[in-house]
Amino acid sequence: MALSSPSAAPSPWTAPQSHFVSAAADSLPHLPDVEDLVPAAHALTDIYPSGAISAHQAARWAALRDCFRALYDRPISFVARTPGRVNLIGEHIDYSWFPVLPMAMPQDVLVAVAIVPDTDPAADERIVLSNVQSALYPTRVFNTRDFFDPVSNLPVAAPSSDNTPEIDWSSYFLTGLRGALTFSKLCISSSTTFMALPTMRILVDGEIPAPGLSASSALVCATLLAMLTAIHVPLVEKSFLFNSAAMSERALGMNSGGMDQAAFVYGLRDHAMLVDFRPLVSARPVRVVLDHDDTESPNLCFVLANTLVRVANRAETGPDLFNVRVVEATLAAEILARRYNVGRLEIRDGFGGTLRGFYDKVCQSEGWSMGNQASEEHAVREVVRRIREMFDREAYTLEETAEMLGISVQDMVSQYMTRFPIRAKKLNLRDRAVHVIEEQLRAKAFSALFASAFAAYRNHTLATAAPYFDALGSLMNASHDSLARLFECSCPEADALTKIARTHGAAGSRMTGIGWGGFTISIVQADRVEEVISALRTEFYDKWYPELTSEEIGRAVFQIEPANGTVLVPMENFKCG
Ligand code: GLA
Repeated sequence: MALSSPSAAPSPWTAPQSHFVSAAADSLPHLPDVEDLVPAAHALTDIYPSGAISAHQAARWAALRDCFRALYDRPISFVARTPGRVNLIGEHIDYSWFPVLPMAMPQDVLVAVAIVPDTDPAADERIVLSNVQSALYPTRVFNTRDFFDPVSNLPVAAPSSDNTPEIDWSSYFLTGLRGALTFSKLCISSSTTFMALPTMRILVDGEIPAPGLSASSALVCATLLAMLTAIHVPLVEKSFLFNSAAMSERALGMNSGGMDQAAFVYGLRDHAMLVDFRPLVSARPVRVVLDHDDTESPNLCFVLANTLVRVANRAETGPDLFNVRVVEATLAAEILARRYNVGRLEIRDGFGGTLRGFYDKVCQSEGWSMGNQASEEHAVREVVRRIREMFDREAYTLEETAEMLGISVQDMVSQYMTRFPIRAKKLNLRDRAVHVIEEQLRAKAFSALFASAFAAYRNHTLATAAPYFDALGSLMNASHDSLARLFECSCPEADALTKIARTHGAAGSRMTGIGWGGFTISIVQADRVEEVISALRTEFYDKWYPELTSEEIGRAVFQIEPANGTVLVPMENFKCG
């Protein structure tokens, strides 16, 4: 299949749906609620869970401050901080617009900025971008004048010989910067002169373990917030940051669904976020840490384990893996809608219809009520039956797929495979669609179970809580098995890690995130965490990666608690201790 060059693709820059848009258009002042704004943090306790983590963070933030001064001979003005994300359940369904349940983690990326005023003799119209890990991520220098027209003039990545963008660490910074310049125009009223970029000194410190916990997307989001602040955009709304970060990222060629950015922006300590995408984006907190201090009562913990599979960055693997799955899910939805005559599907982000659109339309026309477990189980069974009836085999060629869509191959390629290029000769529409429809029910059931476990928690003993934990675990296990078998995005390492965790006491275990490597997440009753971690060390890391030191294994398998989302930290009075 011919690949289009990224420069020939239509622009992914479409306006985000934000209150700022209507404020600018109507010129009526829009006053957001405080809880809708990206918060400012004034102490480490505003950001991180208590305990060992804050001791580590105190040392890290103090070191960042010292390193910045040593490097640039001036203090940090502010820091934009974005966490990594871990998805509990609802994998590969956000781009089909179904709800997902991610959480923000304590590990994060910090973008520390000093603005050099024009009157300062050091104002040289340059942006110096450095990284604490300078050997891995070398310093880059940009000229502020090069960013005058962010949309047309600024390449974030140069196309390589085979047309995939060549990405280095600064591409994510440039993506966030370009997003800030583009989208800030929507929230600065027409009477306000556009703010030019000031001279800046920047130092990045990232601690999100790679790959698979969205470290690079977190850098885009933190940069966006930092650059909005640098050009004096007041009061950044969470919905604005979410939309701008999700859309900016698409410039790198990934047709992602928004789950990562929702976790970054809306994340809340002790909670996972039930993120829905229809009718508007919403994030509802689901409490998943039952009680910190009460060690006698039942409590669930989260253990992460790194597969340590080396994968290229997302932008490079997108055309072979991630973007192919998005196309398969989208085309399955469009073909099903046509075959079952449900009418036109609402289009996601200018791309195509969604399986959520198809599912909702079928449920509506059949009168199956939503929010009722038995009815939804019935709906899922029926919709899966229709999917299997429509797609009687595993793989279809592009010609066969276009025929089912009722359009030419050329039209199909230009509509669905050009803005986000893919390299695939055959598409598996059936298994991808079945996974999405079944996984969305698992995600809903999982959230409902956690909510009821928490409501009943005070009255639980370990014995009476066990059925909840078993049910949650079974849903996670089923999710993993479906991702491995139907969605084909697991890997032998993730399969082994989940199996070992389950055998040694985890209530449930699954791959998390995009897959093809990355991390697994296990939910484990508090009194069995040690046993699970020790089994993963000896039965997985010692066997699969015998060269690793004990310290390296410690960095690969660890427990996490859900943490707060993105914050802006003005450094003047910030307490590092
Ligand atoms: C990546 C994407 C997300 C989501 C996950 C899989 O992280 O960026 O939007 O699709 O994969 O659930």
